[in-house]
Amino acid sequence: MAQINPDTTVGELVAQRPARSRVFETLKIDYCCGGKLALSKACANRGLDTGTVIGLLEQADGQATDVVDAGAMSLGDLADHIVRAHHDFLRAELPRLDAITEKVFRVHGEHEPRLKQVREAFCELKDEMLSHMAKEEHVLFPMIRKMEQTRTPQSCCGGTLAHPIAQMEAEHTQSGDALATMSAATDGYTPPPWACNTYRAMLDGLANLERDMHQHVHKENNVLFPKALALESQLTGARAGGSSRCCGA
Ligand SMILES: [Fe+2]
Ligand SMILES: [Fe+2]
Repeated sequence: MAQINPDTTVGELVAQRPARSRVFETLKIDYCCGGKLALSKACANRGLDTGTVIGLLEQADGQATDVVDAGAMSLGDLADHIVRAHHDFLRAELPRLDAITEKVFRVHGEHEPRLKQVREAFCELKDEMLSHMAKEEHVLFPMIRKMEQTRTPQSCCGGTLAHPIAQMEAEHTQSGDALATMSAATDGYTPPPWACNTYRAMLDGLANLERDMHQHVHKENNVLFPKALALESQLTGARAGGSSRCCGA
């Protein structure tokens, strides 16, 4: 088994072996929006010993994995997988959690003032993600699929893929901030002793939402986007500037 290098970024480590994401989830190391950080730096930021964390990652490598290997997919297959597994999940889960966070805030907000932060951060995340997914599905993912199929660089409004990808990454960071706010305001989704079943269901749903968002953003930030940019650069070099346009601009 290849040794894990502490200088490798946490995003690359998960891209190599998706099961490692479980270790990072447990240790609260951000491998999606914070995926460009070296393992040693990410461990230092969390006050963790890098050697111990490498031991846990190697242990995870030795165990069977049922996590999808995004790195082994074509760009088109990965974009399809992200839509089916993560966008469809959000379209089903966001309305359910919208109703539940509204109810819990309305009923228990006076007793627990931090529920206002949870509700506001959730609404921000929901609005952001619904618009974000539409942009990926209608603009960026079709450009990536077409580039892969036709082996031709795609141009959107005169620019390369770098601009829409940077925009999507910035929106991921905003969503990550909203998730961090909800986690902090609920003590890591821990129910207070007096919490009713609806309150507990809300925390369970939000914790699940956070886990899914981490996987989702990781697959885009650390696998799909870098591979798409690498292919674009390869094709641009080969064609010396020849490209087709995506939106008729
Ligand atoms: Fe997405
Ligand atoms: Fe995204």
